[in-house]
Amino acid sequence: MKAVVYRGPRDVSVDTVPDARIERPTDAIVRMTTTNICGSDLHMYEGRTSFEKGQVFGHENMGQVVEVGAGVDRVKKGDWVCLPFNIGCGFCENCERGLTGFCLTCNPGTAGAAYGFAGMGPYQGGQAELLRVPYADFNCLALPEDAEEKQDDYVMLSDIFPTGWHATELAGLLPGETVTIFGAGPVGLMAAHSAAIKGASRVFVVDSHDDRLKLAESLGATPIDMRRCDPVTEILGQTDGRGTDRGCECVGYQCCDRHGQEANDYTMNSLVAVTKATGGIGVIGVFLPADPGAKQELAKQGKMAFDFGAFWFKGQQIRTGQANVKAYNRRLRNLIHAGKAKPSAIISHRLGLQDAPDAYKHFDDRDKGWTKVVLKPAA
Ligand SMILES: NC(=O)c1ccc[n+]([C@@H]2O[C@H](COP(=O)([O-])OP(=O)(O)OC[C@H]3O[C@@H](n4cnc5c(N)ncnc54)[C@H](O)[C@@H]3O)[C@@H](O)[C@H]2O)c1
Ligand SMILES: [Zn+2]
Ligand SMILES: [Zn+2]
Repeated sequence: MKAVVYRGPRDVSVDTVPDARIERPTDAIVRMTTTNICGSDLHMYEGRTSFEKGQVFGHENMGQVVEVGAGVDRVKKGDWVCLPFNIGCGFCENCERGLTGFCLTCNPGTAGAAYGFAGMGPYQGGQAELLRVPYADFNCLALPEDAEEKQDDYVMLSDIFPTGWHATELAGLLPGETVTIFGAGPVGLMAAHSAAIKGASRVFVVDSHDDRLKLAESLGATPIDMRRCDPVTEILGQTDGRGTDRGCECVGYQCCDRHGQEANDYTMNSLVAVTKATGGIGVIGVFLPADPGAKQELAKQGKMAFDFGAFWFKGQQIRTGQANVKAYNRRLRNLIHAGKAKPSAIISHRLGLQDAPDAYKHFDDRDKGWTKVVLKPAA
């Protein structure tokens, strides 16, 4: 089969690799019809993770089941399914509690497994013609009769829509509250979409890219361009000096300051400053235990100069981590089916698998107009 393979920093190629196949009776094989490039892929693409050469990218996957193992009961050949990016077993202590992003058995030694992901187990990604899905009965989200027609919406259930939703959950957002979101990448935009669906009274989205801020505005948010103003001062000014009830971090450890220089403490300290006393901050941007590619010494060690005094004094809470996609994807699917959510609104490019190397480059450069790339391996 054809697949998008990591060759080294900023080097991917579309190669022929062995077909995905049933390895355990609980597996299914899914023919990929839509698979996305994600901001998380860029950390790996840039060589800023432990992702190994030769691995296949792709954790935002959906398609049609072509084969099931002898131990698969519910899922059948021909079903349209969307796969959470995290792989869960369904029976460990964390999966039982709905924390499938921290499965204890799928990647022994750590908590959490995913397709095509650094440090998340030996699973190949879905930027390929076929994908092996472990524990298929547990991991496949069955899609309704409009699956094929609405696949550009449903594919977002694999990661960014539940992840954006998770950011607002971690922050504790309630209807009628206000929220600041740092990052207008696909995840920040989905956090804004989620906040609007949840009934936030005001949503601020901070970024430095016009095209992304414009999308945030079209989702009902107030865009804040950090090149033109200090976002904290601006948002405090627009909220009677009080800040917002909640804050969401949707950028991660490679976040930049106003001059475009990497400063891994910028978003977190800005969120402490802009979130009200006693407010909640949800952090779904990825931070790593070590980042040898960073320029600053603290960042290399996976640490940051965090304003803990201000955070403590304001009595705030922070919650973090990978999104437990299965905790939300069924209900978010129903919102899409009912026409009440439309995550495909942020897609900028629909391309074939062979276009992936070029697409990675443009998306990594945050080139104007490259907000979200979906690949169509079956096309
Ligand atoms: N926790 C999870 O389960 C999960 C799932 C998916 C993605 N992620 C992570 O979420 C983050 C965002 O993903 P994405 O796909 O939207 O990535 P992206 O790289 O496309 O978007 C990040 C955006 O942040 C902006 N940015 C940079 N510095 C900023 C700052 N100081 N203030 C405001 N904006 C700033 C960039 O201009 C860019 O538009 C990544 O770290 C990704 O790995 C986490
Ligand atoms: Zn992703
Ligand atoms: Zn588990």
